[in-house]
Amino acid sequence: MTRKHSTPPLASARGEWSPSSWQSRPAAQQPVYPDPRALQAVLAQLSRLPPLVTSWEVETLKQELAEAGAGKRFLLQGGDCAESFDDCESSVIANKLKILLQMSLVLLHGSKKRIIRVGRFAGQYAKPRSADMETKNGQTLPSYRGDIINRIAFTESDRVPDPELLLRGYERSALTLNFIRSLVDGGFADLHHPEYWDLGFVDHSPQADEYRRIVDSISDSLKFMETVAGMTAGELSRVEFYTSHEGLHLHYEQAQTRRVPRRPGWYNLSTHFPWIGDRTRSLEGAHVEYFRGIVNPIGVKVGPSMKADELVALAGILNPQNEPGRLTLIHRFGAKKIDANLPPLIEAIQKAGKLVLWCCDPMHGNTETTKSGLKTRNFESILAELEQAFDLHRQHGSILGGVHFELAGENITECIGGARGLNEADLSKAYKSQVDPRLNYEQALEMALLISRRMARP
Ligand code: PEP
Ligand code: CO
Repeated sequence: MTRKHSTPPLASARGEWSPSSWQSRPAAQQPVYPDPRALQAVLAQLSRLPPLVTSWEVETLKQELAEAGAGKRFLLQGGDCAESFDDCESSVIANKLKILLQMSLVLLHGSKKRIIRVGRFAGQYAKPRSADMETKNGQTLPSYRGDIINRIAFTESDRVPDPELLLRGYERSALTLNFIRSLVDGGFADLHHPEYWDLGFVDHSPQADEYRRIVDSISDSLKFMETVAGMTAGELSRVEFYTSHEGLHLHYEQAQTRRVPRRPGWYNLSTHFPWIGDRTRSLEGAHVEYFRGIVNPIGVKVGPSMKADELVALAGILNPQNEPGRLTLIHRFGAKKIDANLPPLIEAIQKAGKLVLWCCDPMHGNTETTKSGLKTRNFESILAELEQAFDLHRQHGSILGGVHFELAGENITECIGGARGLNEADLSKAYKSQVDPRLNYEQALEMALLISRRMARP
């Protein structure tokens, strides 16, 4: 492919950053509240509530992501496309943790690298939409934008953005994180007891045997190590989970942007790892302005419309000090486009000497609509994009340091394919997503087994 030589887009001069400096720029995908005073009252409350995460957790994650960028760790990021308030219940949350834990064990086994586990949870409540309005049976109403903004029911009043939902979302994020932290502290993720992580239906899964062999081999190594060292590997009775969400609703993110004692800079303490979506990453836009000033590690989704010089300019704005671990580029092109789209971006980033962590989201470029109008994704396309991502990075002397999935720990039927051969007709059996289709428990585990084998290859 020939590369176009164009002048790099110059970001207009940027003044002093503040948590509200984004407000002087065009902000895409923001809801319009009918009563601005009600919004201000909610934001004032939000900014006084205690934070959900701490600056030292955020700094630890940044350090770990820096190591992933250098090929010493591997990032596994996954969860719902959009969390829903209704799903804030113990079994749904525990099952999401379990599938992420199982996948991380499988990836650890294949890659021989420590896995960084990041959930799309405890705050993944706001969604960008392609259309502002939605029409059903002749009626046109504002699109649903996630539970933190408006309600899914198709009535005029439900679709009006309601600022109270920002508080409900913050509280649900806190409830979710509180439960996750308690499970992790209570030994739920103890490597000595992987049997705790089995999901009810693992026995019926085509991958059950291979998964159990991996678990047994890890347990045996652990016992061996502990016997040789004459002590228990205490650190292994606890694994870390970090949170992430798309930082879409900028008033909400601003309300959580704080200074902390004894550390410089501003932290977004609603999540460890916020990311900018593919629809809101304009160089001149409000999202890039907000994100450039926070010190968290951040992600940016990179879709097919991204130009090489634009990406280099973006990396310059978002990570001017070229700090390792600060910037993760989450590419999502689709199995048919990655081959043409990724190499020029890798080359440009290398040529500009930018330090980034490359991560592949094989979900968002592979969405299709069935004849009956359901959104789905094919297991084969997802896997095909991932395999090409590993190959292309290797061929260009770069490192694929992470993967990003939309998945659930339940037996849903939203994506087709996989060992059980789900087909279009099966989709209606348990299609629960309000937005994008997720891999179900078995498909997610199978995906992890397949990429783990791929990573084990020399
Ligand atoms: C998402 O991650 O759910 C999403 C909307 O992704 P993207 O910004 O890559 O389209
Ligand atoms: Co999605």
